[in-house]
Amino acid sequence: MAEILEQQCTFHLRNANISYIMRLVRGEILMHVYFGKRLSEVRGDVLHRFTAVPEEGFDRNEFRLDRLPQEYPACGYGDLRAGALTVRGEDGVDALALAYVRHTIQDGKPALNGLPATHDRTNRCKTLCVTMEDSRLGLECELYYTVFDDCDAIARHVVLHNTGRQTLTVDRVMSACVDFHSAQGQLLTLSGAWARERYMDWRPLSQGRQGVASARGASSAQSNPFMLLAERGAMEDSGEVYAFALVYSGNFTADVTVDQYGGARAMIGLNDEQFDWQLLPGDHFTTPEAVLVYAADGLGGMSREWHALCHRHVTRGPYASAQRPILLNNWEATYFNFTEEKLLALAGKAAQIGVELFVLDDGWFGHRDSDAVSLGDWVEDPRKLPDGLAGFSERIRALGLRFGLWMEPEMVSPDSDLYRAHPDWCLHAPGMPRLTGRNQLVLDMGSPQVQEYVYEAVAGALTRAKADYLKWDMNRNFSPAATAALPPARQRETAHRYMLGLYAVLERLTEAFPEVLFESCASGGGRFDLGMLYYMPQTWCSDNTDAHDRCLIQYSTSLLFPPSAMGAHVSAVPNHQTGRVTALETRSAVAMGGTYGFELDLTQIDESELERMKALLAQEKSVRDTLLYGQFIRLWNPFEGRGAAWMSLSACGRQAVVTAVRFRAAVNGGPEVLRLRGLDSGAHYAVRGTEDVYGGDELMNLGLTLQFATGDDASYTVILERVGA
Ligand code: DGJ
Repeated sequence: MAEILEQQCTFHLRNANISYIMRLVRGEILMHVYFGKRLSEVRGDVLHRFTAVPEEGFDRNEFRLDRLPQEYPACGYGDLRAGALTVRGEDGVDALALAYVRHTIQDGKPALNGLPATHDRTNRCKTLCVTMEDSRLGLECELYYTVFDDCDAIARHVVLHNTGRQTLTVDRVMSACVDFHSAQGQLLTLSGAWARERYMDWRPLSQGRQGVASARGASSAQSNPFMLLAERGAMEDSGEVYAFALVYSGNFTADVTVDQYGGARAMIGLNDEQFDWQLLPGDHFTTPEAVLVYAADGLGGMSREWHALCHRHVTRGPYASAQRPILLNNWEATYFNFTEEKLLALAGKAAQIGVELFVLDDGWFGHRDSDAVSLGDWVEDPRKLPDGLAGFSERIRALGLRFGLWMEPEMVSPDSDLYRAHPDWCLHAPGMPRLTGRNQLVLDMGSPQVQEYVYEAVAGALTRAKADYLKWDMNRNFSPAATAALPPARQRETAHRYMLGLYAVLERLTEAFPEVLFESCASGGGRFDLGMLYYMPQTWCSDNTDAHDRCLIQYSTSLLFPPSAMGAHVSAVPNHQTGRVTALETRSAVAMGGTYGFELDLTQIDESELERMKALLAQEKSVRDTLLYGQFIRLWNPFEGRGAAWMSLSACGRQAVVTAVRFRAAVNGGPEVLRLRGLDSGAHYAVRGTEDVYGGDELMNLGLTLQFATGDDASYTVILERVGA
């Protein structure tokens, strides 16, 4: 049960497992007291306990804020550490002194104005809003906190309100800050690059600032809006973990500053690089939402909280809990080089092996025979689709398949009718040559005209195609983040206004097409975040489809995201990105770690291999619910080198799907044993397709003996069914 207790100037948010506590010092300053395992109460003078200053002796004019753990530290007035909020008035001074004004408590979870955020359909959450004020500037700052009843998470966001008469400039506004009293432990971030997204990156905490950020206009492949602090020695199934994620898809920062006293200040929010925001009298500004998760049972426990949160409180629409169609995407099968005849032959083979949805990727519009042209001209190319999307999708449906489409709506090619008609619609700076990336420019999604154009283009294509699915791609970052649509004083608002415009279009589209499954993509997983997940239940995890590399990418992505959110396909060998050859069984086993699909030219595959694919697909289909919505348990960490292993346990606990991939073949190496987790130790489990039955305690302690084939990257998958009641 979620509750918010008010006792002697403390606010105590808690559910069955966690507590989050703050205290009002001398009726004015909001002090952070605690975040962690549930407490029954906090007694005594907490200020004295943490700062060596008794509460009655505390005077904010004595420079003491620098030692005080704070809820939402403002910059420039008494606290010399990095602050969460910097706002300037017309005198140019950026010193703020926030003081408590009032608070409210409400049932449920408020929506955020124009931004994706966690939701609560059951109204069982509780929300506290504490309003602070800087009376000199006439700035009100509302701090929102929601405690969930069914996830060990706290959602936070901030709303600024200019109640005065002068124009204010917001230079920095974090979504959340937590002052930990002690900086013992390690920081983990998800960092990488294109085709190597979200690798686990551990570092010990040390004095100074450490963390990740993006100023690329997208949350990015290079860094993810997520970080966790783990106590020293924390493991997959033990140790305390505090995790932070932003429900946002643009520029962000997530970092920890260790101070002179050994305290650690963790903050997450909009990146203040290339950002400021003018707040006119009467204006409001809402930050993106941050979510904080606490787990006492290691990284595994933390991930299960995130996965539950994603399923129950982030993803929306029918696909939040529905089975995802097994798809075939033609990208790696044909790239731009296809005819309708070729696609229909491919789709025919897909139907033959049991695929449910055919996705037509890039190249169907304008004169798009390469990535150099036509983005923005969303009109069918008659050379490739003589009867348009309508005729082609009808033929696909006649094969018994559903139909999906690729678009990259946020972009424009300089060689396009759209660009020739509206050269000012893209991000650009006056007097500077327009930089292209993948031969394209970025449309300014902050502009209402562009939003209208993009909505109409996408809605039109979805309608013509009667599409069941849309892959929404985005293949370049912002540089410069400048626009003709804003005056000089507001240029640094461009990147955030872009996100607000994009979210407005996605909101309209997902409302208008509630049955369409949207899959997000940004050159693979370049925008894999909770913000996109709010609109699009799945994201194409990476352009790297190599099964070996995907073990690493999907393993670390699973820290935050459930398998239902990760697009994963069986592709061709040699793999198009790495040249590696892996067995079909391994490619299928790894794709089963996400939303399953195929991405290769099936017309080039011989009948016996197609039969094997058909059998593997049938296997996935038979356990799809367990894979997508079961409890995901990581077993072998691929970053340790031996291989990767994981299992999914169905919600009722009756079925488990276990997969292991051994990276290097070992000759005469002795038996490989995998100890399972999460089973009922008193129950028995039968191995599907064999006569073998094992006890739950046996599988979790003695382990399952893995029978790998020869060769590198060999895999072993077993399906366990609980015997009896
Ligand atoms: C990048 C995506 O990640 C690929 O899957 C593919 O859709 C291409 N774009 C198409 O241009």
